[in-house]
Amino acid sequence: MDIKISPSMLASDYANLQTELEKCEKGGADLIHLDVMDGHFVPNISIGAPVIAAMKRVCAIDFDVHLMISNPYSYIDDFINSGADIITFHTECDSDIQKTIDKIIAGGCKAGLAVKPNTPIEEVFSYLDKLSMVLVMTVEPGFGGQGFMESTLPKIKSLRQKCPMLDIQVDGGINTETVKLAGAAGANVFVAGSAVFNSDDPAAAIQTLRNNAGI
Ligand code: DX5
Ligand code: ZN
Repeated sequence: MDIKISPSMLASDYANLQTELEKCEKGGADLIHLDVMDGHFVPNISIGAPVIAAMKRVCAIDFDVHLMISNPYSYIDDFINSGADIITFHTECDSDIQKTIDKIIAGGCKAGLAVKPNTPIEEVFSYLDKLSMVLVMTVEPGFGGQGFMESTLPKIKSLRQKCPMLDIQVDGGINTETVKLAGAAGANVFVAGSAVFNSDDPAAAIQTLRNNAGI
């Protein structure tokens, strides 16, 4: 499987988003990860579709939008119109999962489905034929800078056994060491917020993550 590195803009400098996006482009990022939080599904509030649309105007990399919101179905059109390339939402949300996947795909986007650390991976199984990606959260969603939960590794392994060609994304606590654990378990798409943007050299951080993911 191709290794893809997706820097999470949640850890970037919101006063200089264009500059931060340029660092990702120069650093060879494969995707840009945008965390949308509604203060209800998770305790935090982050950015919404207008900010993503503005960022899309100055960045050519595919946008990987992670919806941590209670009712994703109602907002799919907004995020498609903002320029999202992949839209991922949670099995634990209040929307109808199948209808939400169908709406994302009908709008021309790729659909991803996410599970929180304590949600069984079997929750995504009945939707796999329509999904481009499954996100196995490796922290409780809501905040950057948390520690990687090794208890999530068996879920990655069993999903990879079932789906040899699926993009399996991990998000939360990914750094130059934990990326090895997640990669060995079978993940191939790695979100990294603090590991990229708290680094003095984001391009080098992206390169190290990519190298270590394959170890
Ligand atoms: C957390 C978000 C993550 C977050 C990751 O709920 O989904 O994308 O930005 O941040 P780090 O890499 O710092 O754990
Ligand atoms: Zn995320």
